Amino acid sequence: MTIARAHTNIALIKYWGKKDPTLIIPYANSLSLTLDQFYTTTEVTFADEAAHQDEFILNGQRLAPKATTRLAAFLELIRQRARVQRYFKVKSENHVPTAAGLASSASGFAALALAASTTAGLQLSSRDLSRLARRGSGSACRSIFGGFVEWHKGYDDQTSYAEPLQADQHVAMDIGMLALIISDQPKQISSRKEMANTVATSPFYDAFIQACEQDMIILKQAITQNDFVTLGQIAESNAMKMHATTMGAQPPFSYFLPETIQAIQAVQRVRREGLDCYYTMDAGPNVKVIGRASELETLQVRLTELLPNTPMVAARPGPGAMLLSDFEFGQ
Ligand code: DP6
Repeated sequence: MTIARAHTNIALIKYWGKKDPTLIIPYANSLSLTLDQFYTTTEVTFADEAAHQDEFILNGQRLAPKATTRLAAFLELIRQRARVQRYFKVKSENHVPTAAGLASSASGFAALALAASTTAGLQLSSRDLSRLARRGSGSACRSIFGGFVEWHKGYDDQTSYAEPLQADQHVAMDIGMLALIISDQPKQISSRKEMANTVATSPFYDAFIQACEQDMIILKQAITQNDFVTLGQIAESNAMKMHATTMGAQPPFSYFLPETIQAIQAVQRVRREGLDCYYTMDAGPNVKVIGRASELETLQVRLTELLPNTPMVAARPGPGAMLLSDFEFGQ
């Protein structure tokens, strides 16, 4: 039996679009910050010899077979690689504050990759683990590592993997994030579906990919120079360019809700008042505010005054995927 934990990550340069949807090879490099607050803990054992499929229990609930196709396909990859026949029993807990509405596929597939590959007897390097997690969900390849992480797009299964920017995973920058919970409803359109539609139909897509290359150079320089303001400006602008691609898609689409705009305006206002903060968004209406870790509390107090009905969770840089003892499972 193996227990693993992985934390979620938020991209500062977004991954949006697959060149190879089967292997999950992206069109551009992306760069994220792994957080300390939202994580998945997953226990994997072999199922009984007699079992004829994998079994999944998520937050105490057994998943119906039709909800497990993607998970089962992922475990099949591990069986093939490890040359084992046995099915797995997977018990997973998502530690995302209730109603946070934050994506859990990154932490989920990173934890599953580590726990299931270890149970199957594979001892993968971090890079190979990142390549494996990528096959479950693209952003999961970044959650194998802590701190700032870059996903090198590569051109095939071998060359597409994530890597931490600072080798010791220590983040020197005074940085944190506030997750603003705008909606806890399941998203209208999955990121996977909308991403594919955007690549296929949006005339803005090529411009986004070009912009990502330029943004990546400036953002990495900002991290090296410990320049928080430039990092925030680039992350904000990159996220909005990603969202612009969906508006240009056919049919036009946006993840924004009216409350999303209100939250963005509140961040802009607090910034005008003198507190450095920037917004980013993923494939949903929630807004993540990038702030200095040392100013996160002040930021939360001020934003709560402006958005009294919006729950907020403060997060700081978090660690990479890790193995746990069974004592720690419920924590
Ligand atoms: C907007 O990793 O969830 O959060 O590879 O199809 O599973 P799949 O997509 P996923 O997409 C994440 C998209 C994003 C940007 C990002 O995290 O880089």
